[in-house]
Amino acid sequence: MLPERRLFLSQTTRLLSLAALAAACPGAALARTSAYPFSLGVASGSPRDTGVVLWTRLLPEPLNPEAMTRAPLSVRWEVAEDEAFKRIVADGVATALHELAHSVHVDVTGLRPDRWYWYRFMLGDAISPVGRTRTAPAADALPARMRFAVASCQHWDFGHYAAHRHIAAAEPDLVAFLGDYIYERGQYDLKHPDAPSGRGDESITLADYRSRYAQYKSDPHLQAAHHAAPWIVTWDDHEVANDYASDRDERLDDNFLSRRAAAYQAFYEHMPIRLVPRPGEAHDFSNLRIYDRMEWGLLAQFHLLDNRQYRDYQACQRPGRGGSNVVTARCTDRLASTRSLLGAQQESWLTEGFARSRARWNLLAQQTLMAQSLHVPPAQSREDDRFWNDGWDGYPASRDRLLNGMKKHRLANPIVLSGDVHTFYAADLRQDFSRLASDDNPVVATEFCGTSITSRSRAQSITEQIVASNPHLHYGRSDRRGFLFMELTPSSSTARFQALDDVSREDSGISTLASFVVESGRAGAIRIG
Ligand SMILES: [Fe+2]
Repeated sequence: MLPERRLFLSQTTRLLSLAALAAACPGAALARTSAYPFSLGVASGSPRDTGVVLWTRLLPEPLNPEAMTRAPLSVRWEVAEDEAFKRIVADGVATALHELAHSVHVDVTGLRPDRWYWYRFMLGDAISPVGRTRTAPAADALPARMRFAVASCQHWDFGHYAAHRHIAAAEPDLVAFLGDYIYERGQYDLKHPDAPSGRGDESITLADYRSRYAQYKSDPHLQAAHHAAPWIVTWDDHEVANDYASDRDERLDDNFLSRRAAAYQAFYEHMPIRLVPRPGEAHDFSNLRIYDRMEWGLLAQFHLLDNRQYRDYQACQRPGRGGSNVVTARCTDRLASTRSLLGAQQESWLTEGFARSRARWNLLAQQTLMAQSLHVPPAQSREDDRFWNDGWDGYPASRDRLLNGMKKHRLANPIVLSGDVHTFYAADLRQDFSRLASDDNPVVATEFCGTSITSRSRAQSITEQIVASNPHLHYGRSDRRGFLFMELTPSSSTARFQALDDVSREDSGISTLASFVVESGRAGAIRIG
């Protein structure tokens, strides 16, 4: 845990930065205060070749939702070809509803492929920060290159978001965020009259989750990364509750599904994603489809997965408990052929996508490490091998079907992108991890796992033992925070592991720890630096 004082200073500094931002852009008297309404910044995401989703949430004081009116508000938005908004190409008015925390989602269409745009929102005479976004290339275009950042796991209490400042500075075409955008636990100053007392620091209600997002999104560096490029986002467990699986949390709480619906609603309210239309239905967040596909011309296809909402429960759970634990190979339930991490529907959707893909590179943007990762120290016999049952190792039949689907459909250049484990890994994926690569056990795909933006990890000495015990893991670093930076060209993909010097410093520098390349037509990571 960080020292209390640093934690306090961290929060104060961030909110002061926000106050400075607000002072520079005086806002309208829209609510019970006259404060600037765009305190959480703006965002864009889910880009298509002719459109993109724009997002903001009206909230004058990030930690005080009561300062906001309950009335609906009309928010104007503009998209321009230039930063000065001289050439506006789309505009309109959106309604921000109290029922959706005055969030605004605009699904802009009719834009030109492969173009950068600038966007902003206006309420009264208050003007939001300007965000920069872009469309994907046309479906039949083969761009010469694409650059994107991969990030995950940004626990507020464990450091500054300097990594986001560096993501913004890199001017990527896209940011892929792979989960744990918030953590449901941790300190924050919830000024809400309905906030339950005496439950510690855990988010349970819709008001809790909204305040948690508002706290995180008040950070100027996180806002800068959103303002720099469109994002594609998926979630992991901590957007809801630690290690939950489908409708079950680790405490086996009877009310978990209503908590999950609150958390899913708050996720939607704070992310630049499309709500799959359900005609005739009121907003219902008991389920929320977020898995999606996105094409970048003929260069890349992103398959964005959700491995939390539809999964089977973790195998061999402890009596009276849900959630994860470490199991041995004696836990035969783990091996059941029917078990799925994605659920049957998402698995068939994914396989159909493999069959139809025309892209040079196929990127699976998903939550957790796919490569087998046996626990250390190594067991004396195979049946004593230990596995963490929350990740892909807890669902080997599901992983096998996925890798088999890649082989069967001759999926071009699959690269799995992962988060969750707060460790940089480069790995080769093959169907039988217990044997080295061979003609009948080829490397099917390459995997790169980013570290965390801030969240803590295990000691590096343990990670070195894990790498030594799992020969398909080529590299592992758990002692540094940062992000993964990818560059794709038609002939190769490069992954750079970008590590902060010091996560406790807002002004931390960054450097490349290691670089890997994947050549088109040959799965597997080759270290180049
Ligand atoms: Fe995490």
